Amino acid sequence: MLPVSRLLKPLAVAASLLLSVIPAARAGAADPAPDRMQWFRDAKLGIFIHWGIYSHGVGSESWAFHNGDTTYEAYMSQAGTFTASAYHPEEWARLFSEAGARYAVLTSKHHDGFALWDTKLSKLNAKDGSPAGRDLIGPYCEALRKEGLKVGLYFSNLDWSHPDYASVLPPVADRSDPQFKNRFGYPQGPENPEAWTRFLAFHRGQLRELESRFKPDLIWFDGDWERTEGQWQFKELRQQLLEWNPDGIVNGRIGKYGDYLTPEQYIPLVPPPSVWELCATVNDSWGYQIKDHNFKSVRQVVRMLAECAGMGGNLLLDVGPRSDGSIPDEDVQVLRGLGRWTHKHAEALYGTVAGLPGGYFYGATTLSKSRDTLYLFCFDRPNGQVAVKGIRNPVLRVSVVGGPELPSRKIGGAEWMRMPGVLWIDVPESALDSEATVIKVELKGPLDLATEPERKG
Ligand code: GLC
Repeated sequence: MLPVSRLLKPLAVAASLLLSVIPAARAGAADPAPDRMQWFRDAKLGIFIHWGIYSHGVGSESWAFHNGDTTYEAYMSQAGTFTASAYHPEEWARLFSEAGARYAVLTSKHHDGFALWDTKLSKLNAKDGSPAGRDLIGPYCEALRKEGLKVGLYFSNLDWSHPDYASVLPPVADRSDPQFKNRFGYPQGPENPEAWTRFLAFHRGQLRELESRFKPDLIWFDGDWERTEGQWQFKELRQQLLEWNPDGIVNGRIGKYGDYLTPEQYIPLVPPPSVWELCATVNDSWGYQIKDHNFKSVRQVVRMLAECAGMGGNLLLDVGPRSDGSIPDEDVQVLRGLGRWTHKHAEALYGTVAGLPGGYFYGATTLSKSRDTLYLFCFDRPNGQVAVKGIRNPVLRVSVVGGPELPSRKIGGAEWMRMPGVLWIDVPESALDSEATVIKVELKGPLDLATEPERKG
């Protein structure tokens, strides 16, 4: 068990910040075979599920004891409330599908070390260590697959309950320890190589169980920041995972060996340099929290999703079921509202690629793979007309997705410099969507986008 101290909070926050910053900066994500990643690139929306003994709802997932908000013992005793008595994964899968998701990612094991499957390698699991009394991962995988969704499993590399993990950490509880004050030194304390070797065998062993029993399409790693890439032996791990499952993909939290980047809780300001996915919560918590009612509106989530798609990325939207497995109504309402919008605008979302760079249109945009159809997402109520710049192609047709054809006209431009006019589009009130209106611009040929002409003087 890790000694806890309130002083760790800044470190934990710094670690989370690092987590969110480092992956986006990892330009070296492995360049995967395009067909292995294609479903992921096309998917646009996934649902993240944080479910574990913390779903009792009174403290955060794992961090509660790490940060000293509660004791380790009190935290772990929440396992006694983890009943899964209202766990109906088919209903989860139907709801996710209704929301428009194409995949989901469930926490198979968070940093607290409590596994949701009946791992043979530790007693800390839903079958042996909670009233749930059974494997919870198998039924989830089956339900998702029946619904046509891809299966993702979150897996924490670090394990704050495992004695061989805790024993190789530096002595962080002692406030007078200079290492504790120097966060750059953290956590490079004295090593115990045998314990670490044993821990790695345990880590690989659990992953092997997940791979052989559930064959996930995606493993979503987390918690790599307390050890170096070399200590984790991530290069070897990636190789091993590919041997176990050549089609499986992994996110970017295994050093530079992941398939895609995972910015967290913020919409990137510029498109990340490779395949990517934003993970974000519907309220402010990853797991269920009784007191957290700060839910995002459907409109805010729609916008977040469209902005991700507009930069070629996915949104992994997190919900927190309760200990019994029921998903709170507030989450359900957001997912249903989102579903109304995603189903209506499916063609503008799934299977599209990143749209226009900044400066051409004031909103998100996506392009069909053939690049001859441009979708404009209008988040704000257009004041009669919307405008898009830089399109050199003749425009064949403009319409509202799920609505009428719209009058449009290109005005202005400097033909002698190949700078096209502004395309002005009339959008009547009656064509507006309550969350975000999407305009479809069909072009003659693949998009030919003007760029700023060279200035001669
Ligand atoms: C952060 C949180 C962790 C959560 C993860 C999801 O790393 O610390 O608890 O599971 O985000 O991305």
